[in-house]
Amino acid sequence: MATTIEAPRTKPQRTASRFNLEKWGWIYMRASGVILVVLIFGHLFVNLVAGEGVKQVDFAFIAGKYANPFWQVWDCLMLWLALIHGTNGMRTITNDYVESARANRLIKAALLISCVLLLLLGTLVIFTFDPCPANGLAANLPSFCAAR
Ligand code: HEM
Repeated sequence: MATTIEAPRTKPQRTASRFNLEKWGWIYMRASGVILVVLIFGHLFVNLVAGEGVKQVDFAFIAGKYANPFWQVWDCLMLWLALIHGTNGMRTITNDYVESARANRLIKAALLISCVLLLLLGTLVIFTFDPCPANGLAANLPSFCAAR
């Protein structure tokens, strides 16, 4: 018997809502992909090629980057776009291959929970990172902190 595969943007029949997740997911993968090319290659160039190259990457280098709002926004955008892109990609793969309705729901719930948790944690780290915490033990602080 011949099997017809639906076009990727086809709205599932059972959905009552007017919002077509498959269509917007399809568009999101391409739009975020284009922006991620710039963000990821910019990130790799600045960290591993420019200046002293890979040898420069240490605690002070990261502290220096996160003292600058430009890199905070750059990294935050990269985190959100890539995590949602990767999670949505895994959702597509799950829908393609996991036929058991229960396992399908379970895997997608785990994907959603881990995505939300990582977005929250990552965003918190980017915007609250302090290399020289006021109550830190002097012995544990990096050499560039005033308290040392
Ligand atoms: C250079 C940046 C990237 C570009 C241009 C890009 C582009 C794309 C595009 C266009 C798709 C859709 C493919 C399709 O529908 O057949 C896709 C799927 C996917 N992407 Fe990315 N992506 C990038 C980075 C990433 C990153 C960083 C991750 C992981 C966090 C990721 C994980 C995935 C996954 C899991 C899929 C689903 C694959 C599938 O359906 O077989 N991608 N990507």
